[in-house]
Amino acid sequence: MQDSFIEQTVTFVKERLKNAESGHDWWHIQRVWNNTKLILETESADHTVCELTALLHDIADSKFHDGDEHIGPRIAGEFLLGIGVDGDTVEHVQQIILNMSFKASLGEITFHSKELEVVQDADRLDAIGAIGIARAFNYGGFKNREIYNPEIPVEEQLTKEAYKNTKAPTLNHFYEKLLLLRDKMNTAAGKAIAAERHQFMELFLQQFYGEWNGER
Ligand code: ADP
Ligand code: NI
Repeated sequence: MQDSFIEQTVTFVKERLKNAESGHDWWHIQRVWNNTKLILETESADHTVCELTALLHDIADSKFHDGDEHIGPRIAGEFLLGIGVDGDTVEHVQQIILNMSFKASLGEITFHSKELEVVQDADRLDAIGAIGIARAFNYGGFKNREIYNPEIPVEEQLTKEAYKNTKAPTLNHFYEKLLLLRDKMNTAAGKAIAAERHQFMELFLQQFYGEWNGER
């Protein structure tokens, strides 16, 4: 039964994300799902809740729906009830999706569960390491940003204005977000994987500056 719920959810999500932007396409979902299963190898939490949430967490980005944080959880809930998932599970999945969103991270909503910790870690792992680097430059390219600008200190907190003017080089995003994620991980498994991916980003940056400065 559980397997069939997962399978039906995979089909639903693939279809919904057919035309999604590359930062949150099906492949992002598949990676977050894989990260979730990796974390669950050593963390105990409800597998069905975690896997369903990993699959459904980005089906409606509020950025494209007038900031409505509830649209994702609503669509996920309707779908899950439709295929016969029990009410408690559906409610839990909806709470996690709502609380993983950007606004929630600003502290407006409070909900905690082990399952939320697992899926949030899985999502954050996809923003760091080699994949995180690729996603950042992909995003920066889409916004026509410079990859780096030595005249703009990387650790400087850039204003919203600087971002609007597309002046914030992609490398700054490492210092404002990517390098901070390691210390935000919830689970022991998440922390261990994040530590390795963090190290890889440090290595990347070291190599990047070396090449930028004409070193071999
Ligand atoms: P999330 O899905 O974790 O809420 P976002 O929607 O903010 O993340 O971003 C999606 C991807 O784009 C992430 O990998 C993130 O690091 C990257 N990204 C977001 N903002 C920027 C930026 N200003 N510069 C470069 N990459 C960014
Ligand atoms: Ni995501």
